[in-house]
Amino acid sequence: MAVVWRAITRGAHGFVRAVAVKRIKASLSHNQEFVQMFVEEARVGATLDHPNVVQLHDFGIDEWGSHFLVMEWVEGVDLRRWSSSYRDAGWHAPWHLTAAIGIEALRGLHAAHTRTDPFGQAAPAFHRDVTPGNVLIGLNGIVKLADFGLARAMDRAKVTRPEMVKGKVAYVAPEVAEHGAEPTAQSDLFMVGIVLWEVLAGRRLFKGDNDLESLKLVMQCDVPDLSETRPDLPSDLVRAVHRALERDPGRRFGSAQQMARALARVLRRVAEPTDAEPLGQSVATARERLGLPPRDLPPRKLAPLKRATSAQRLEAMDSEDSLEIPLVETRD
Ligand SMILES: Nc1ncnc2c1ncn2[C@@H]1O[C@H](COP(=O)(O)OP(=O)(O)OP(=O)(O)O)[C@@H](O)[C@H]1O
Ligand SMILES: [Mg+2]
Repeated sequence: MAVVWRAITRGAHGFVRAVAVKRIKASLSHNQEFVQMFVEEARVGATLDHPNVVQLHDFGIDEWGSHFLVMEWVEGVDLRRWSSSYRDAGWHAPWHLTAAIGIEALRGLHAAHTRTDPFGQAAPAFHRDVTPGNVLIGLNGIVKLADFGLARAMDRAKVTRPEMVKGKVAYVAPEVAEHGAEPTAQSDLFMVGIVLWEVLAGRRLFKGDNDLESLKLVMQCDVPDLSETRPDLPSDLVRAVHRALERDPGRRFGSAQQMARALARVLRRVAEPTDAEPLGQSVATARERLGLPPRDLPPRKLAPLKRATSAQRLEAMDSEDSLEIPLVETRD
């Protein structure tokens, strides 16, 4: 659907700042319905102002006709990689840090679920795509949710190309999978449940051999008892994750805040700190294990800004695939 770039904005006197640029593939940029929804979602996303939500800075169309979002750059790892850094080393992810990450993500979700419009009327925004790849953890130990509402643009535009939904059906609530129910706070919470279950268990929850099989598993909603894989988990934590994964939305938590509080209660009995410092440290360690550099260093030499020629623009318009624009060299 899109390619995420680490890019640099430049200001006067050599001012530089890293940002994330999410560039929609050229084929989608020419889908009017998608673009309309994408613009609407970007507008909603821009109004979400919360420390646990990736801030949206800008939205534009580049010279090749592709739409892009400019977001804050989170220097760290996403939860998928954080989790695999433990799994690959043969360990389970530490549950206290996993719960702390869950709490932060839930705070971001709650802010979006309780959003109001400028007139004070309820205007909730549902994420619809809470996946491990969309939970970003910074080296500073701050957790941020990315890609709010983008899934909605995909749905509404009836973008059904297989490559776009691939791997996604394993992260959906059963009521949405079954009869396309409108998303609610509880469907977002179900996805938080899947993500936490997977990080704690170190394996996928609803992963079939293909998308259809995965979808069937979601609809069956047969959730293996977490405490069997992780007898070390406090029972309250297991209960909270399983409650988020209840088949009946009415039996899940009433709100993201309620679930965050339930997880916070579990952590109150933990002697080890679970604040930003140990979380940031775990990100630094994960980066090391993953073979990533300690920090995303600024490029030594910035590539000169280039304008596209009209021939290149026309070529991009015709092309079905995204055109990769080397914004800057990200690493030496
Ligand atoms: N704002 C950001 N700051 C730093 N890294 C980011 C940012 N946004 C995305 N990324 C990284 O880029 C990766 C790819 O992002 P992308 O949104 O294209 O796919 P995804 O998050 O894996 O899947 P999804 O389609 O569910 O969003 C993310 O997994 C994350 O590691
Ligand atoms: Mg994403």
